[in-house]
Formats: sequence, structure tokens, C-alpha cells
Amino acid sequence: MSDSPRNSIHGQWSSRWVFVFAATGSAVGLGNIWKFPYIAGENGGGAFVLVYLLCIAVVGLPVMIAEILLGRRGRQSPINTMASLSREEGRSPLWKLLGWSGVLAGFLILSYYSVIAGWALNYVLEMVNGTFTGTSAGQVQTVFDELLADPLKLTLWHTLFIIVTMIVVARGVRGGLEKAVMFLMPSLFVLLVILLAYAMNSGAFIEGLTFLFMPDFSALTREGVLTAMGHAFFTLSLGMGAIMIYGSYMRSQDSIARTAIMIVFADTMVALVAGMAIFPIVFANGLEPGAGPGLVFQTLPLAFGQMDGGLFFGTLFFILLFFAAWSSSISLIEPAVTWLVENRNMKRITASIICGIATWLLGMGTVLSFNLWSEVKWFDRTFFELLDFLTANIMLPLGGLFIAIFVGWSMSRKSKVAEMATKYLFAFNVWSFLLRYVTPLAVTVVFLQSTGLLAKLI
Ligand code: TRP
Repeated sequence: MSDSPRNSIHGQWSSRWVFVFAATGSAVGLGNIWKFPYIAGENGGGAFVLVYLLCIAVVGLPVMIAEILLGRRGRQSPINTMASLSREEGRSPLWKLLGWSGVLAGFLILSYYSVIAGWALNYVLEMVNGTFTGTSAGQVQTVFDELLADPLKLTLWHTLFIIVTMIVVARGVRGGLEKAVMFLMPSLFVLLVILLAYAMNSGAFIEGLTFLFMPDFSALTREGVLTAMGHAFFTLSLGMGAIMIYGSYMRSQDSIARTAIMIVFADTMVALVAGMAIFPIVFANGLEPGAGPGLVFQTLPLAFGQMDGGLFFGTLFFILLFFAAWSSSISLIEPAVTWLVENRNMKRITASIICGIATWLLGMGTVLSFNLWSEVKWFDRTFFELLDFLTANIMLPLGGLFIAIFVGWSMSRKSKVAEMATKYLFAFNVWSFLLRYVTPLAVTVVFLQSTGLLAKLI
């Protein structure tokens, strides 16, 4: 194939900004608002946050650029993109496996992502009903515990979430998503800033900031470091082809690097503002920062219950959280659907229904892991915890590692320069260096240290 750009059969974004918003819509989601605060809390705060930010800078950003580049050059589903690019570059056809592992990871992640998004939906209803008005920490906790103990309720919301996700995917990501995301993302951010203002007056703002930003390395475990790196991939939607497929709809004339920087910056800001809003509320109310996956759902309702206009802001917040999850979930299943369309000649709608049913079924495992199966463990983990660990901490970093190796080492410099179309050769070289040396080394070191092997070696 020559350097002339090809087009995706699935269409193209209508402008540069649509790609930025869609990719940001994919990146900003439950990972930022639900997961980041709770894993930061579980892993002792500051030191964890520092490792996470480092991973974003030296691993996340370079891999983001590489993944967009692969997508735009291949212009197909991640599996077929890897197949045709490895052929073009004269490399092993086995690179296709990278696409496959991504499809699998996306499917596994969506199955539990949907259940958590269902919690947000349930909280919209609780907010509207005024459940939390003037409530105490204990009552908020009870509402959350009762939700988790109710498999039927969880199933209902999980089902609803899968349905709305698959409707957008069936209609084609571009048609359904473009306009919604451009309006919803900024609204969510405004609401987070309102919460931040509330947190500043909570009486424990400094305590919250200290927890979040003062590194205490004695609080960070080996597995905590792995979790921080895994989360850098998770929160940026990297390592499984989501950003690749979005990149495949990107116009040839737009700058990949500049776009990637904007997405990474926006995503990190949302997570940090969410953290800065949540931890002061945690400390002001004597709650436990390491409370686990329920953290956001046990703290924010308290704030909404106490603030003026809390009913309105609270309802709006959980609606927007649902939309943030929605715009992320679409990108998790898009690679699988596009592959079925390309290789099995399916209609988008048929492919979406099949993927939706499979994901729904697997998601039932997560639903039950919070109640009936809460004592069923593999490697000391419930079904939900195992899926989360396997995908975020293992599959995504491995995917990212191989993306870095392919783009860094297996792709010719000529193809890369042509695709990046950059005037800034110095910046290109910095990126290339990070991708070839720093990213693979960082991922390997984090993997090794998490098993305790590194400590034995040195
Ligand atoms: N980044 C999203 C979040 O933070 C989740 C997500 C969407 C994702 N697409 C992905 C994670 C692809 C990994 C890979 O909520």
C-alpha cells in the first residue's frame, strides 16, 4: 500500500473536533470518577497518584499516539488493521493476535462496566426520589448495601445499560455519538467543579489534598504500582483497540500528536478534579478512604444531601455520569462489532445484537459477585475483581506493550513520518524514543516488580 490515505468503510468523523470529543468521551468515564478515587483510596493516596501520573506521561501518551497512528493507517477493525499493517511492513501475521486480544479485553471490560454504570442509573432514581435529602453517612451506606444485595435490581439496570449501548453501536458510532458528547462532556466537568467548590468548604479540603498529593511510599504496595499503571491504560482507553478504531475514522490531515495531548490532558484533569472533590468529603464525614468500589456512591450523595439545590445537582450529576459511561462503553465493543461486519459480512445491527447478548450474559457473573456469589473466589478474588484485575492490570498493559513494540520497532520510520505528517522532528524523535525504550521498559519493570521478582533480582 502506498502512502496515499485509505478510507474506512465504516465512515469518517466530520471534523477534527469530533474525533477529539469522541476519544475524550471514550476516555472519560467511570474510570475517572468511580475507579480512580476508589483505587487511589485503597492504595494510600499520594504515592499511588504520583505513579499513576508518571505512567500517564511516559507510557500513556506515547502509546495513545501510537494507537491512533495504527488506526488511521489501517482504517479497519483492529484485527484487520494489524493484519494489513504487518503485511505492509513485512512482519509476522501473528501481530493480528494483538487485535484479537483487544476484542476479548473490550468484551470482558464492558461486561462489568455495564453493571457499575447500572449503579449510576439507580442513583439517578434515588436522587429524584429525594432519598438522600439531609441524610447521614450511615443511611447512605445502607442504600448502597441494599442495592448490591439485590441481584434483580442490578440485573435490571445492567440490562438497560447494555441495551442503550448497543443501540448507539448498531446505528453507527458517528451518527449516534457526535453531537451528544460535545455537549455532555463539558457539562460533566462543570458539575465536578461545583462539587469541588462544595468540597473546599467542607472543612477537610486540605486533608483531602494532602491525602491525594503527598506521596507516602510506605502506603504503596507492589500490586498498588501495577494497579496504578493498569489504570493509566484503563482511563485512557488504551491497549485494546478502542482508540485504534476511533483513529481509523480520523481525517488524514489532522495532527495526531496534538490531538492525543488534548485527550490525555482532559482525561487527567477530570480524574484529579473528581479526586479533589471526593476526598475532602470522605474526611469531613469520617469515612474510610479505602472503602472500595462503593466510595463515590457513599460520599457524593452525602454532599448532595447537604448542599443547597442538592436534589437538582445530584440528579444531574448521576445522569451525566451515566452519559460518560455510555460514551465509553460504546468504544469497548466497537472493535468486535466492526470485525463481525468486515469478516462475517454481518449487518451492524445483527453484529450489535450478538455482541450485546454475549456481554450481558457475562455481566451476570459480576451482578452475582456482589451478592449470591460474594464468597466464591478465584485467587482470592470475586468474579468482578478477577475480571477487573485480568483486564486492567494484565491485558491492557500487555496490549500497550505490544503496540509500543510494533510501532516503535516493527514499523518503518518512513511510514511513521508519513502518517504523523509533522514538521516537528525533535518532538517526533522524543516520542519515538519514549515508545521504543521507555514504554517497554516501564511496563516490563512494573510487571516484574509486582510479582516480587525484581526485588529478588536486584
Ligand atoms: N476509559 C474509560 C473509563 O475511564 C473506559 C474505557 C472505554 C476503556 N474504552 C476503553 C478502557 C478501552 C480500556 C480500553 O471509564
